[in-house]
Order: sequence, then C-alpha cells, then structure tokens
Amino acid sequence: MRKVITYGTFDLFHMGHLRLLERLREMGDHLTVAVSSDAFNAGKGKSATVCYEERAHILRALRCVDDVIAEDAWEQKADDIRRLGIHVFGMGSDWDGKFDDLKALCEVVYLPRTEGISTSLIKESIVSPTPVRVAASR
Ligand code: CTP
Repeated sequence: MRKVITYGTFDLFHMGHLRLLERLREMGDHLTVAVSSDAFNAGKGKSATVCYEERAHILRALRCVDDVIAEDAWEQKADDIRRLGIHVFGMGSDWDGKFDDLKALCEVVYLPRTEGISTSLIKESIVSPTPVRVAASR
C-alpha cells in the first residue's frame, strides 16, 4: 500500500484544501492528514478560528482522508514518516523546497495551490464582503 501524508491547519475548510487532499489521495492508496494543534499554532503566534477537535473532525469525515493525526511540533515529520511507513510527503506549492530534507526518507511533492482561495481571503471577505468562488474543474 502506497501511503501519503500532508500537514496543515485547514482552518475554515475550503475548496483549495479539498483539491489538495483529493490530488494527494490519488497519488497513493492511503492519506494521513496531520492537523496543526491549537498549541502548535499558538507557538507560531497563530490562532485558528475553528478549534483543533473540529478541524480534525471535518477532515476525518472526508472520503479522500483515511487517517488524521495531530501536528504538535515542526520536528515530528521524520518520525511520522518512519513510524507510519509513508511513501509520499506532499504540501501545497507555498512550501516549495521547504521540506526537501525529507527526500532522504520518502518522495516529496509540492502541488500547485488552487488560485483565488485561502483561509486568509475568506477572513478578509467576511470583513469586506466579496464573493469567494473558484472554477469547478480540478
Ligand atoms: N492549499 C492549497 N490551495 C489553496 C490554499 C491552501 O493547495 N488555495 C494548501 C496549502 O498549500 C497547504 C494546505 O492546503 O499545503 C493547508 O493550507 P493552510 O495553510 O491550512 O490553508 P490556507 O488557505 O493557505 O491558509 P492561510 O490563508 O491562513 O495561509
């Protein structure tokens, strides 16, 4: 079985998140999503609108997601890859090159981000309303 993993906050879940997860799932037979915990985000000076338990619950409910774990530290990735027998580590292209050190352990891919959507944009559009819409094709 070819196993894939990705990491992220996935706050205010949106089409960019879904498309990334669907494409990653197609790269293997099993997708693990490591969801940034509230404590990990707080350590980075960030806070999510939706709490960890609910972000994890939403991800666990998706057909393209097979397992959800917590991301509590930057350094856990290599351990997770070994422990879970991961073949592919994948992130969106905003992380291009940032995790190339993991190439010693597994395949590392950076997939193009979906244009025109992000958690930050959704938050901005609530403050200054404009429709957030992305094309239907993948
Ligand atoms: N992602 C994507 N396309 C988007 C937005 C996010 O492919 N339009 C990917 C990111 O590259 C990352 C994962 O989804 O690998 C989780 O991203 P996250 O930072 O949680 O979402 P963003 O919408 O980018 O959040 P923010 O605006 O707070 O940076």
